[in-house]
Amino acid sequence: MEMAFSNSYRMGGIFLFFIFLLSPLDIRATNANIPSTLDGPFEPETVPYDASLRGNAVDIPDTDPLVRRRVTGFEPEQLSVSLSFNHDSIWITWITGEFQIGDNIKPLDPKTVASFVRYGTSRTNLNHEATGHSLVYDQLYPFEGLQNYTSGIIHHVRLTGLEPNNKYYYQCGDPSIPAMSDVYYFRTLPASGPQSYPKRIAIVGDLGLTYNTTCTINHMSSNEPDLVLLVGDVTYANLYLTNGTGSDCYSCSFSKTPIHETYQPRWDYWGRFMENLVSKVPIMVVEGNHEIEAQAGNQTFVAYSSRFAFPSEESGSLSSFYYSFNAGGIHFIMLGAYISYDKSGNVTFSVILIFL
Ligand SMILES: [Fe+2]
Repeated sequence: MEMAFSNSYRMGGIFLFFIFLLSPLDIRATNANIPSTLDGPFEPETVPYDASLRGNAVDIPDTDPLVRRRVTGFEPEQLSVSLSFNHDSIWITWITGEFQIGDNIKPLDPKTVASFVRYGTSRTNLNHEATGHSLVYDQLYPFEGLQNYTSGIIHHVRLTGLEPNNKYYYQCGDPSIPAMSDVYYFRTLPASGPQSYPKRIAIVGDLGLTYNTTCTINHMSSNEPDLVLLVGDVTYANLYLTNGTGSDCYSCSFSKTPIHETYQPRWDYWGRFMENLVSKVPIMVVEGNHEIEAQAGNQTFVAYSSRFAFPSEESGSLSSFYYSFNAGGIHFIMLGAYISYDKSGNVTFSVILIFL
């Protein structure tokens, strides 16, 4: 197994990096002998600093075709694949309809668009079907002059009964409108067990949506990972005001705002930008400080919890802030930094024991 560690660092996320200090960063697998953590620790493989890299991250603007809406009506967009607990199950996520932002927004009704996936091992014979659930979320700021946001309809559907190490084709949407996506594909991971491992896992944090992100994602894609772990700090929508004005340093530029604002369309831009990779390769996300995104009613992490599918229920977790899953012989335990893991939090110790 080979892990590619990539980080377009901006701020925060210290806790998450700590996790990886405990992990072997470079484990070479051969057919004859798969090293275990007991054979380590291994020297991490690094590359010298490339002076030609851009030192200053420039955000991808809303005019760039990489982030523009490419569908019409209720056609699916922002497709992504996430793992469930084992190799035999996968989550498909997508968005239909347009977000609204402004003073007078009216949330879409999630019940008006079905959450339906056709899938199978042949592109021309998608002979399995699955249905799921959908939701919209709001990001509300009860202050004069700040703009509120309501999302498109976010769909999550879990496919089951999948074979390990297999290529599956899928198409999602609502056939009754009709509004179905093109046919996409993903590969299931090896069977969960001590003798089978994914070949390559990409781990990234502080991804953002800058022209440096394009380098990171291109590098990642060219290495054909079996799985992507995104360990916090996703879109950096919280470096923007609700009117779409951004800054590298929110507190420096916008110190007088009544609440730490965000510009939620950045999430939609990010979903469009990432689709090419994560419609094929499963992505597993855990939250960072940039996902806090406080809003009215003391709500936090709403975009994060709404936009991604997490195998929380499947792994016995009560929260999108911690969950676990298998990737071949690896059992991943994702522990976000924004929940208490003792009796003071809303997670009891007994729940943690069951979950592990
Ligand atoms: Fe960070």
